[in-house]
Amino acid sequence: MSCSDPLPLLYPVFQRKSVIVMSLIVAVSVFVAAVHYTEKPYVLLQPFFGQSFSNRWVFSRLQHRFKSHSGYVSVPKQEPLKLYCDLCSIVSSSGQMLGREAGSAIDQSSCVLRMNNAPTKGFEEDVGRRTTVRVVSHTSVPLLLQKQQYFFGQANGTIYIIWGPLRNMRQDGKGIVYNMLRQVIENYPQAKIFVTTEERMNYCDKVFKEETGKDRIQSGSYLSTGWFTLVLAMDMCRDIHIYGMINETYCRTDGYRKVPYHYYEAGSRDECAEYLLHEGAPYGGHRFITEKSVFAKWAKSHAIQFSHPAWAIS
Ligand SMILES: *[C@@H]1O[C@H](CO)[C@@H](O)[C@H](O)[C@H]1NC(C)=O
Ligand SMILES: *[C@@H]1O[C@H](CO)[C@@H](O)[C@H](O)[C@H]1NC(C)=O
Repeated sequence: MSCSDPLPLLYPVFQRKSVIVMSLIVAVSVFVAAVHYTEKPYVLLQPFFGQSFSNRWVFSRLQHRFKSHSGYVSVPKQEPLKLYCDLCSIVSSSGQMLGREAGSAIDQSSCVLRMNNAPTKGFEEDVGRRTTVRVVSHTSVPLLLQKQQYFFGQANGTIYIIWGPLRNMRQDGKGIVYNMLRQVIENYPQAKIFVTTEERMNYCDKVFKEETGKDRIQSGSYLSTGWFTLVLAMDMCRDIHIYGMINETYCRTDGYRKVPYHYYEAGSRDECAEYLLHEGAPYGGHRFITEKSVFAKWAKSHAIQFSHPAWAIS
C-alpha cells in the first residue's frame, strides 16, 4: 500500500525527464545527420525532410515502382502502361551490332527494348533473344503485319508501343494505323499493344524544341523511333544501357566502321551515308545527328551508358 503510493507520483516525473532527454538526443543526432546529408545528398532522411534535401531519388523510385505511364494506352481498352525496370538495354537497329557478340549481356538486363521490326532470329549472338518492349513507328506497322505470327502470335509477353501522328492513330475509325492494330488484337487477343497518346506526341515535340531550340515541324523533320524510345526509357528505367548507337561526331571520325544502316539489311546503304542524307534533307528527314547531341546531354544527368561504340560522357 505505502509502496505503491509514491510510484504513481514519481513515475510520470521520471518518464517526462527521460522523454526530454531522449528528445534532446534525437534532436542533436538529427541535426548532425542533417548537416552530414546535406553535404552528401543521398537519402535516408529524405522522407522526414520532404523535398528540401535536393534529393528526389527515394521518392521517385518508390513512385516508379507503381508508376503508370498515362502517355501510353492499351488497344483497345485505353489502360495506361505500367512498367518499371532497374536496367534497360536499348538495342539499336544499327549495323554496329554486327559481330559484337553483345547478346548475352543484353539478355541479362531486367528489360530489353528494341525498335520497329528489328529481328532477333538469326542474330541472337549479337543482339540477344529477349524483347520486353518494342517501340514501333506507325510507318513500320505494315512490316510487323507481314510477319504477324512471328511478332504477335508467339506469346512471348513483348509489349508493343506504337507511336504516330493523330491522323493515323485516331480512334474514331479514321486512323488507318490504329485500325490495323485493332485488327491485330482481334486476331491475337493476348498481344500487348499500346499507342502513344496525342499529349505524349506533343510532349515529345516539346522536348525536341526545348533541347535543340528548333521547332520540329518548322524544321521539316520527323523524330526517330530512337527518340521516342529514349524518352520512354527515361521514365521507365532506373539505368539505361544503349547498344550500337553512334555519337554525334562518329561519322566525322577517321577510320570509322562502315556498317549497314540496319543490322538485318546486309548490303543496304551504309549508316553514315544514310545519316548525312537525313540530316541534310530539307524536308521529311530525321535529325539523327542532332538527336545524338541531345542524348549526350541527357547522359550527363541520367544513368545512361553507351556500348559498341562507347561514348565518352564528360
Ligand atoms: C519467342 O520465343 C521463342 C522461344 O524462345 C523464340 O524462338 C522466338 O523468336 C520469340 N519470338 C519473338 C518475336 O521474339
Ligand atoms: C565519338 O565517337 C568517336 C568514334 O567512336 C570517338 O572517337 C569519340 O571519342 C566519341 N566522342 C564522344 C564524346 O563520345
